[in-house]
Amino acid sequence: MAFWASVLIVLMTTVLVVLFRLGAFRQRRFNEPPLDKGLIPWLGHAMDMSRNASSFLKKMQERHGEIFTVHIAGSYITFVTDPFSFDVILKESKSRLDFSKFASELVFKIFEFQMPKNHRGMVINNSSKHLMSIGLVGLTQAMMDSLQILMLQPDADKRLGPQEWKQEGLFQYCYNTVFRAGYLALFGNLPTNGKAGHAQDLLQSQKVFEEFRKFDILFPRMFHSVILPKEKQEIKRLRYFFWDILSARQMLEKDNVSGWISSIQRELADLGVPELGQSQYNLILLWASQGNTGVVSFWALLFLLKNPEALKAVREEAEGVLRKMGKEMRPGGAPIIVEYSMLQQTPVLDSVMEETLRLRVAPLLTRAVKQDVILKMDNGKEYALRQGDRVCMFPYLFLQMDPEIYPDPTTFKYNRFLNPDGSRKTTFYKQGRRLKSHMLPWGGGPSICPGRFFALNEMKMFVFLMVTQYDIELVDQDVKIPPINVKRFGIGAMQPTEDVPFRYRIRF
Ligand code: HEM
Ligand SMILES: *[C@@H]1O[C@H](CO)[C@@H](O)[C@H](O)[C@H]1NC(C)=O
Ligand SMILES: *[C@@H]1O[C@H](CO)[C@@H](O)[C@H](O)[C@H]1NC(C)=O
Ligand SMILES: *[C@@H]1O[C@H](CO)[C@@H](O)[C@H](O)[C@H]1NC(C)=O
Ligand SMILES: *[C@@H]1O[C@H](CO)[C@@H](O)[C@H](O)[C@H]1NC(C)=O
Repeated sequence: MAFWASVLIVLMTTVLVVLFRLGAFRQRRFNEPPLDKGLIPWLGHAMDMSRNASSFLKKMQERHGEIFTVHIAGSYITFVTDPFSFDVILKESKSRLDFSKFASELVFKIFEFQMPKNHRGMVINNSSKHLMSIGLVGLTQAMMDSLQILMLQPDADKRLGPQEWKQEGLFQYCYNTVFRAGYLALFGNLPTNGKAGHAQDLLQSQKVFEEFRKFDILFPRMFHSVILPKEKQEIKRLRYFFWDILSARQMLEKDNVSGWISSIQRELADLGVPELGQSQYNLILLWASQGNTGVVSFWALLFLLKNPEALKAVREEAEGVLRKMGKEMRPGGAPIIVEYSMLQQTPVLDSVMEETLRLRVAPLLTRAVKQDVILKMDNGKEYALRQGDRVCMFPYLFLQMDPEIYPDPTTFKYNRFLNPDGSRKTTFYKQGRRLKSHMLPWGGGPSICPGRFFALNEMKMFVFLMVTQYDIELVDQDVKIPPINVKRFGIGAMQPTEDVPFRYRIRF
């Protein structure tokens, strides 16, 4: 009897300890934000969050207001919904609210890569100059070279004959083209072995794109940790495919590898990261650099096709730039080469891109709470945050879709970011006060996307080429803009649930 009693006691204690560690008994303490644990014991609100993060967070905001803490699969996450307080959090010191801890965990979960301690930010930070000031002009040029390989050269698989209309899915076309061009620009060309053309680059980049899409489609399930055994196997296969293609050995055979990639490789080697680790890191960089630009380019072109006035304005602006640079298109003339300087003269296209980012880029910005801290909101109210929790911001819903800041927020307005005099508009207001950050598609603070200038150049260059080089039209003029796949809220650029057929042909 005594034996069974002690077994029972041990069992019950274990259950209680487990429940305690999972946070089942957590109570809101003095000064803490409202706590919402949800009804399901361990999962909390995990299902709501992965089903449609935007509608879930909207509901929570209506219930709790400017700040609240929710329980999601064993983690306690505090969401701040007041856009004026975003800057406060992004500026917090690393010893209080840290980006890298959560990022490292996510990177490990998805890419199996573990950085040597304290080096996470440094590798990216040291190499970022290659994506910005010094390297940006050359990299933008490399993007143009790569677009030519894919679209314009005689053996290009996207090249059209004169007068020939070609029909394709717009999403497929944009994602494929921008992904492959960006991949070639950053990760280099395969040797041509003295032959004309780029047959190897065309073949390999196509294969890399196809496999990347499989990985990309599984990404939300990895992100939310809901993977079936069969999917697990496929993910493993895909990882090995990329680790091989992107290995240091394979990269050595390439020509024109960008300074960004090669300097990161060198630094990882210096830090003693083994070869597999270097390949793993390259997959992270492939994903960070190629997962969003093609998707955003698709939306930009689709919005233009659905708004003829906007398409006309962008085309006229681009033609004006070409004329000014003495590069007018004419029948039988040379194909257009878009140069870096041309992309600095396009306020209308800039506004189109910014409006597209506002409508379709929805990352979740996360910080780990490193010590018990008092968070002082913009309005002066103070809240206690607990060490070990996370703080999140979702600027898509609480900034970019705010009808007070952006009237009629779900509608595409191509000139929303233009002043009446045609210059770039950057002043936006809420409750009569100007917002410091009126959009956060690139994140902010120390973890802001280092590729944002290059990304914009890539996408603008592609749209510029599409509207000057081709006639483009929707197969069905009345087609509805497809819904977004809400499972990707929190990850980055939103993808459509279905493709949209379009036609294109050379204009001259
Ligand atoms: C439309 C395209 C893109 C979007 C919307 C985008 C957005 C973002 C966002 C939201 C983050 C995370 C910031 C945070 O959590 O605070 C990020 C990080 C990052 N992005 Fe981008 N990005 C894009 C294109 C690119 C490109 C083209 C590159 C490289 C060539 C790039 C390189 C990176 C890297 C390396 C990081 C990690 C930074 C770190 O760990 O500190 N991104 N990006
Ligand atoms: C997801 O939530 C948003 C609210 O932000 C809502 O507009 C949308 O219809 C929802 N989508 C689905 C498929 O539930
Ligand atoms: C990153 O580099 C910039 C300058 O290039 C520097 O100001 C900043 O402090 C660096 N950040 C880290 C975390 O090393
Ligand atoms: C990267 O940054 C760290 C700290 O600023 C520095 O010690 C290291 O030498 C840098 N590496 C390179 C390759 O610049
Ligand atoms: C490397 O880039 C240069 C300049 O764009 C180009 O002429 C050359 O063909 C490229 N190398 C390969 C192997 O494609």
